[in-house]
Order: sequence, then structure tokens, then C-alpha cells
Amino acid sequence: MADDMKQGEMPQSILEVSAFDPQGRSDPHTPLKALREGCPVMRDEIAKTWFLTRYGDIRETVNDRSYVRLPIKAEEGSLARRFVDEQSGELEQPSILFLDDPDHSRIRLPLAKAFYSRIQKMKPEIEAIIDDIIDAAPANGRFDLMSEIAVPIPVLVIARILGVDESRLAEFRDWSEGVILSLNPVCTEEETERLARSADALNAYFDELLTARRKAPQDDLVSDMAALQASGEADISDDELRRNLEALLVGGNLTTTDLIGNGVWLFLTHPDQLDALKADPALAGQAVEEVLRYEAPVSATSRISPDDREIGGCPVKARQTVFCSLASANRDAAVFGQPDRFDITVKRPSHVAFGGGPHICIGAPLARMEARHVFQKLFARYPEMTLADAPLEWRTLPFFRGLETLAVEV
Ligand code: HEM
Repeated sequence: MADDMKQGEMPQSILEVSAFDPQGRSDPHTPLKALREGCPVMRDEIAKTWFLTRYGDIRETVNDRSYVRLPIKAEEGSLARRFVDEQSGELEQPSILFLDDPDHSRIRLPLAKAFYSRIQKMKPEIEAIIDDIIDAAPANGRFDLMSEIAVPIPVLVIARILGVDESRLAEFRDWSEGVILSLNPVCTEEETERLARSADALNAYFDELLTARRKAPQDDLVSDMAALQASGEADISDDELRRNLEALLVGGNLTTTDLIGNGVWLFLTHPDQLDALKADPALAGQAVEEVLRYEAPVSATSRISPDDREIGGCPVKARQTVFCSLASANRDAAVFGQPDRFDITVKRPSHVAFGGGPHICIGAPLARMEARHVFQKLFARYPEMTLADAPLEWRTLPFFRGLETLAVEV
């Protein structure tokens, strides 16, 4: 049992260490440490899942290709199944996030190839988008870093990569914010309506965009994918193409926003680390990895066991789900020296903030590129930036770690 948690305070459910819970929001790391040290392979009967907190078990699980992800393969009533069941029909027709081989590889491989060559090609343009957004933020006084910088950058970047028409950008941003509500299992009625409206509008828009690019290809990812589909190089249906292009949008916005927000918050609360970055901007790449390790924007991922097996000596049955706490793995003292110290100056072993194995985040290279440039540009433009005096509010979305607002003074 960890010293800082009293007897009887050991979490019983993964929801207690998620952003759902006030403790999980204000400090997820204390209860996660207690689990890591006292019950690293926990059976959670409330969420009907196993919950892993040790780096070694988690690395092994996410890398193991024999696990599956398709929610219908999970036991009834489990969180993995309920979460998707109650959402947007993902159960029958999921994106690559919830697909298994051979479909997963059939779709992911050509998509990743096209996506990565596009990101490389567009690097200068992506950096210019970031520069413009940071230059347009207030020159002095107080402002909310989330709404001025961390939120607009990822959505504008992905819109340009996909090839969204400039004239539709405002609508696209509005729909994107609407569909991101699909990540929230506790939407209000109004939010549920907004989600449905946005999803319909976005589906219609992607159909329109795909039709237009088939007729007249442009220099963008939608045209690249339409061409691969037409040539037979990508064996992918129209529906699959649309769904997975949308997955890039949903998967990449909030997460990258949180990487930027968490990073700026960490630098402003660790001035010695900010000084180190300012003194050597080439540390930005390592700084991004340390932010990802220290406050992982996605705090958990999951797998479904296809058969009876053991994890850490515990009996896991076929169809049971296994949640892996990426946030906990990244603070495991068995792997990271002084794990609770935010230190951008040392090279650490690799973290698991992007998961691992066949489902490892497809957007990792883009998120890294964006965050690296944001940290360099932001602190060069605002060398005197400090935190404004305002209460810190973490978002309540379970399994994500990010700030609602981040008031700064420049
Ligand atoms: C800091 C930013 C990001 C974080 C922390 C993050 C985290 C993750 C994690 C943990 C997974 C699950 C991996 C696993 O289960 O092993 C994942 C999958 C995924 N992410 Fe990201 N992500 C980020 C940015 C992005 C971006 C920018 C995009 C797209 C533009 C994206 C698109 C996806 C997709 C499509 C998947 C599903 C991949 C698959 O199952 O094959 N993510 N991400």
C-alpha cells in the first residue's frame, strides 16, 4: 500500500482514478501509485474489467497481437462494450481503433502510409499554421491559452491535411467540436443532439469532399486516399474510407489540444524546466516526450482477451476486457528514475502515452510535430508568460487528462 493513501482507500474501480471522479481529476497519480504497489492487476466488478497499472504488464499487453479490440467480442456489460454500445453505432462498423485483423491492417496500412507522407510534405505549412495562430493571440494582458491556442491549432492542421475547403473551415470546426462529444459518455440532451447533428453534417461533408476530389484531385489526403482506392492499392469501401478519415479528426483534436495545454501548464509550474527549454530550444523534442510521460493526455487504453490466460498471476477469462493505465505505467518507478519529477533534461526510457503494438496511435508523429513547434514558438514569442491567478479546472471526460481553461499573463 502506498504511504500516502490510508488503509481502505485503495480504489475499487477504474472510474475512481478517471477524470469522472473529483480525486481522479485533481490527482490521479496518488491512487494509481497505490494500485501499482498494492494491486497492480485489479479486477473491477463495477466496470467489469481488469485494470493494469504496472509498466511491464501494460507494455506486454498492448504489444501482444493476440488480444482483440472489436467491442462485440467483449463480455456483455463490460465498460469497453457499454461505452461503444451507447455511442453512434461504432459497434457494427468501427474505425480502425476498434477493428481487428485482417480488416485492421487492410485499412490502417495504406491510410498510415498516405498520412505519414502527407505530414512530411506539409511540415512547413503545418508550422506556418501554428505560427499564425500564436501570432494572432493577444500581445499583452491575460488570455485563455486553451481557447486561443491549444484548441484551434489541431483542428486547423487536420483540416488542411485532409483538404477541407477554406470557405467551409468555420463549419468544419464547429462540426469537429460537435463530434468530439462522442468521447463523452455523459452528454446532456442538448450535447447529444449537437453530436448527432454534427456527425450527420460531417458525414455529408466528407461524402461531398470525396466525390469532388475523385472528379478533380487536389494536393491533400482525401485525394491521396481516393486515388489509392481507385487504383486498388487500398482495398477499402467508401464507408470505411469516410469513417477512418473522420477518426483522424476525432482521435487527433482533443488529444493534441491536451498535449499542448498540459505542456504549457507544466512549464509554467516548473520554471527551471522552462529556463532549460529557453536556453536550448533543441530540447523541445525531448520535452514533448516528457510532457507525454508525465501527464498523458489519454490515460487508458484497452484490449479484450480472446482466451483464458494469466496476467501477473491473475486468471483472465476469454472475452474479459483489460484496461491499461497509460498514466500509471508512465510513472512506474521500476522503469523511470524519479518518476514524479518533471525533467526535460534527461533522456528517459520510452513511455506508453501513445499505446503500443498494432494499435499504437497513428497520429503520434503529427502530435509530436505540432507540440514541438508550439513549445518553441510560444515561449519565444512570450518569454515572460506566467500562470494567471485562476483555479485550475481539469476536464471531466473519463480516460482523458486535459484542462478546461488555462489562464495566462503575457
Ligand atoms: C498527444 C496526442 C495523442 C495522444 C496522447 C493519442 C493517444 C492515443 C492512444 C493511447 C491510442 C490507442 C493506442 C493503443 O490502444 O495501443 C490512440 C489511437 C489512435 N489515435 Fe491517437 N493520440 C494522439 C493524437 C492523435 C492524432 C493527432 C491523431 C490523428 C490525426 C490520432 C488518431 C488516432 C487513431 C486513428 C487511433 C487508432 C489507431 C488504431 O487503433 O490502429 N491520435 N491514440
